[in-house]
Amino acid sequence: MSRELNLILLGPPGAGKGTQAARLVQDFHLPWASTGDMLRAAVAAGSDLGVKAKGFMDSGDLVPDDLIVDLIVERVNQADCADGFLLDGYPRTVPQADALGEALSGLSREVSAALLIELDDEEVIRRLSGRRVCVQSGHGYHLDFDPPKHEGVCDQDGSRLIQRDDDTEAVIRNRLNVYHSQTKPLVEYYEERGLLRRFDGSRSQTEVHDHIRAALATLRLEDTI
Ligand code: AP5
Ligand code: MG
Repeated sequence: MSRELNLILLGPPGAGKGTQAARLVQDFHLPWASTGDMLRAAVAAGSDLGVKAKGFMDSGDLVPDDLIVDLIVERVNQADCADGFLLDGYPRTVPQADALGEALSGLSREVSAALLIELDDEEVIRRLSGRRVCVQSGHGYHLDFDPPKHEGVCDQDGSRLIQRDDDTEAVIRNRLNVYHSQTKPLVEYYEERGLLRRFDGSRSQTEVHDHIRAALATLRLEDTI
């Protein structure tokens, strides 16, 4: 029997974390936790967390660690995560990574792999400027690379497509700066622990997906030897 897959998706904004997560959860039947989606839901609901987080998100800054860590520690403790999970957008700072490691080790578990999707800054701007998301399901499209069949309408449920508030060029540039200064140190963090797997995010969605799937299959195989 192979071990559980406790996975982290790392990478700059727009690298394709959400796009790949949607495919991988189907392949591996894992629960998918996106801190960005959780925070956007909190903002939409007007909860305490949402009220506190909104200003940071609108300007492209990170929401403070103390607001995020408990959210994700609670999430990985839930029953559906007992056999593995896919975290998208967490951790984003070294203290967040430490907190996850401690929470898992308290459960005699550990991170299986940190999947880094690499993409250069100019391509990030192209990706995010053309992104549209379904107002209902959050499903993502791109005006050039992955257009919906009918303009402005989600293929899956017919809902309206919108542009995210933080997908304006000025905010994207700040999100990139924040990524380079606060999140990129996690590349070395997971590399030192032998957990980092790198993927070229400039390839097509299908190629990136195939590469990640192959790496995870190998990981599971290594585990059974
Ligand atoms: P979050 O929602 O996580 O945003 P992000 O990290 O900036 O990443 P994105 O969701 O923008 O990009 P993605 O990598 O998922 O790309 P996607 O697949 O959509 O976070 C938002 C905010 O919440 C943060 O700024 C922060 O304020 C806060 N936050 C969240 N987590 C936090 C944490 N842990 N701590 C503190 N604060 C936190 O793809 C992008 C586009 O490209 C799409 O249009 C897609 O169709 C297209 N595309 C994807 N792959 C390809 C491909 N291979 N080829 C061509 N096009 C592609
Ligand atoms: Mg995303």
